[in-house]
Amino acid sequence: MNEEEIRARIRAGRDFLRMPEHEEDYQTDQQLKKPQPPLVKEAVSDIRIPLPVDYQSLPIDNDFLHIINSRSSHRVYTDEEISLLELSYLLWCSQGVKGIRGRAYATLRTVPCGGARHEFETYLYIRKVEGLQPGCYHYLPLSHELEFLKEMPEDFVSPSLEGQAWARKASVIFYYSFVAYRAEWRYGIHAHRMVPADAGHVTENLYLAATSIGLGGCAIGAVDGKLCDEAFGLDGEEEFIFYAFPLGTVRESDQQKELDFYAFVREQGL
Ligand SMILES: Cc1cc2nc3c(=O)[nH]c(=O)nc-3n(C[C@H](O)[C@H](O)[C@H](O)COP(=O)(O)O)c2cc1C
Repeated sequence: MNEEEIRARIRAGRDFLRMPEHEEDYQTDQQLKKPQPPLVKEAVSDIRIPLPVDYQSLPIDNDFLHIINSRSSHRVYTDEEISLLELSYLLWCSQGVKGIRGRAYATLRTVPCGGARHEFETYLYIRKVEGLQPGCYHYLPLSHELEFLKEMPEDFVSPSLEGQAWARKASVIFYYSFVAYRAEWRYGIHAHRMVPADAGHVTENLYLAATSIGLGGCAIGAVDGKLCDEAFGLDGEEEFIFYAFPLGTVRESDQQKELDFYAFVREQGL
């Protein structure tokens, strides 16, 4: 890429995030009264796993400030199984549906979202979760269930995250897709600016929920979109994976190994 092309790409990136000036003669599909797309993606598999919801039995840290202060990214996992209840809690905290606005206008969830569009779907690559066979799954937020999609060998994980091999010991990897028209119906050409902010709420809740039950994870922007889309059966245009979050069991004594990820900061005197 030459200097000019790089500058053009950077400008396009900035324009993407900038609030545009008022566009004359433009109406979104919602304003044009076009039919609203579904609030969630329908299940495609007959293999459903209801998720337990008795979170009282989890050892949840109730000290909110302690959770806030101790949240950090974890990339060193002890490679153990997590329980189905823990997974259920993490899904609930990050994308759980608490209610419906209107007859079927929007889902209200445990996270905020521009226009309550909730334009994401949560896919999972499960390695080590109690009672579940390893493979690809999809979260069904309206019924709080998982559906099993297909088997997938473990060597999918590292390339799906652009070679971030440390994630191979995660118990589960969350992959988030963007369902484009769910946001575009309401916000049209302005929809995409909202997405990074919306996604940040989802994974921050996931970080905090994991911290509150002694698990650890790390948000991941570097994903191999094509590989992920193939794995979860997405068309890559109307719906595509853009964000991920490996999560696993962690222990205090691995703190130094965590810090070693940033050894370059010390070495380069940054
Ligand atoms: C949007 C986003 C993308 C990220 N992508 C990666 C990534 O691809 N690889 C990685 O190791 N960490 C990634 N991180 C984690 C950040 O490096 C981490 O949050 C940052 O270094 C601050 O550390 P802390 O989370 O422990 O406070 C990402 C975080 C966010 C929010």
